[in-house]
Amino acid sequence: MSLLDEARRRLKAGDVVAIPTETVYGLAADIQQDAGLKRVFSVKERPFFDPLIVHIDSIDKARALTTEWTEIHQALALKCWPGPLTLIAPKLPNMNPLITSGLTEVGLRCPRHPLTLELLKDFDGLAAPSANKFGKTSPTTAEHVRGEFGETVLVLDGGACDVGIESTVAAVVRAGGRWKVMVYRPGFYTAATLHDILENAGLPTETSYAESPVAPGQLEHHYMPPIPVLVGEKVDVHELLEASQKKLKKTFHAQARLDLGSDPALAARTFYQSLRDLTPGHDAIIVMLTAEQRKDENWRALMNRLYKAASFRA
Ligand code: TXA
Ligand code: MG
Repeated sequence: MSLLDEARRRLKAGDVVAIPTETVYGLAADIQQDAGLKRVFSVKERPFFDPLIVHIDSIDKARALTTEWTEIHQALALKCWPGPLTLIAPKLPNMNPLITSGLTEVGLRCPRHPLTLELLKDFDGLAAPSANKFGKTSPTTAEHVRGEFGETVLVLDGGACDVGIESTVAAVVRAGGRWKVMVYRPGFYTAATLHDILENAGLPTETSYAESPVAPGQLEHHYMPPIPVLVGEKVDVHELLEASQKKLKKTFHAQARLDLGSDPALAARTFYQSLRDLTPGHDAIIVMLTAEQRKDENWRALMNRLYKAASFRA
């Protein structure tokens, strides 16, 4: 039996399987299998208030799971799928409430990885959060997933993820009688890019970032490696060290330095891998930011993950 057949068999039997996507590896369950969905939460140690993203391999399958798919959803899906964009839409009433944590809307995404697209052909949808223990660093290789869950979870090895951070999560909401796009979680697609896509499709639409974490699961701390990440914004490295030692009541003896470079796409691709690589042999990871990294919209998604992974900022 091929690995793909084995993955299919396990999912249909109510087990979970780790799947590759272009963003991060997912821990998947068949949306029709209550046992599989429950297992996602138990294996991940994930709280039930945090909704799962449903992965599908076509726009038609996404539409089949929703009660309202606007022309805005359609235009964004046509341009960005398969790819790192999750679209929120009202869910079918009979969808398993575990998937959406009881919310009336569901997050849908068509991932861009040939193995996973092949697997998805046989399912109405696969619900998949990132394949890491809740709150920990997301996995971007099959090796990372094995390190997290050992032999208990079958991993479809699809190589290293090339986007490297989770998808943009965007909702289409009604505001003052008009549709508006709200980005709940920043990712590869910026609000400005989504705006341009809609404008080019003849659907000019106000597009902005949600100020407060309206999406459940958007906690202040997430993605944290085992050693503290210290982020320097307005201070030099000595001031950062001194202030962080005081605040965290620790003395650091072996700090690693993570240089994010000048290309946000490249920095995102290697970000989680770098946090893992720099952990052994060090007691803190220092990231000094430039003004551009802090302010430019193209860095926004990475700054979001960095700040959530950080124990101290100054
Ligand atoms: O790139 C990705 O999106 C990866 C890969 C595996 O596809 N998945 C991922 O899943 O990042 P996860 O569970 O780590 O993040 C899911 C987040 C939730 O925490 C929540 O913020 C948002 O997506 N979300 C999902 N469904 C939602 C809903 N119905 N309403 C609002 N936000 C939702
Ligand atoms: Mg996650």
